[in-house]
Amino acid sequence: DAHPPILVAIDGPAGSGKSSVSRTAAERLDFGILDTGAAYRALAWTARRIGLDLDDAAAMETLLDAWSYRITLRGEQRVTVAVTGGLSAAAPTLAEPVDITTEIRDHAVSGQVSRVSKHPAVRERLNAMFRRTVAGSGLPGVVIEGRDITTVVAPDAPVRILLTASPEVRAARRAGELPGLSPEQVLADLEARDAKDALVVDFFTPAPGVTLVDTSTLNFEQSVQAVVDIVRAAQNAA
Ligand code: DC
Repeated sequence: DAHPPILVAIDGPAGSGKSSVSRTAAERLDFGILDTGAAYRALAWTARRIGLDLDDAAAMETLLDAWSYRITLRGEQRVTVAVTGGLSAAAPTLAEPVDITTEIRDHAVSGQVSRVSKHPAVRERLNAMFRRTVAGSGLPGVVIEGRDITTVVAPDAPVRILLTASPEVRAARRAGELPGLSPEQVLADLEARDAKDALVVDFFTPAPGVTLVDTSTLNFEQSVQAVVDIVRAAQNAA
């Protein structure tokens, strides 16, 4: 009965405006929004809480077997995790779902998350989860954003966009969100994280068929409008 949702795949580096632009564009389109980075962050947060070695792929797979993860696709994206089965003794406070929407944005998590996202087995498991979440959403459309959505998670999506901005612009945007740090520190952090993440997936070069949107000279509203226009054009062409 229900049609599968129309997918809008959006990739890009930190500070490209990807998260906020994707969320607002989704609202205007009346689509759901799935921030895939939140799952990598939540997995890193859970592994740290239990005291697992984030570099150990087998330990991360064992954790995934016992891990339950939920994210809401409408409005504010609320993230909850729980740990069941054999690992629950190590994490009694996670036996029931815990809301970690705020915690996954901590600097400590941002600095450690590439240690879990680098494992191919972890990526495959999370990618399967993202595809199930979107397919079962019951929504008319979903904007799904991350690093490898246009290339790996949803290469057949009817709309695929790579959002970029120059390193200086990205650092300036991030500095606005992190008032305690100097612009130089923010740029250094950002480039270090991009370098680590880019070892796993190339999110700077648009794959064939992917529309590049450079937000360096666009304000927030113009960036949202650029995404909405691309989706509407694709809908009109279909
Ligand atoms: O977009 P973000 O900063 O919340 O992403 C958190 C981390 O997860 C980031 O270091 C890259 C990684 N990530 C990934 O490898 N693949 C995705 N599809 C999304 C995020």
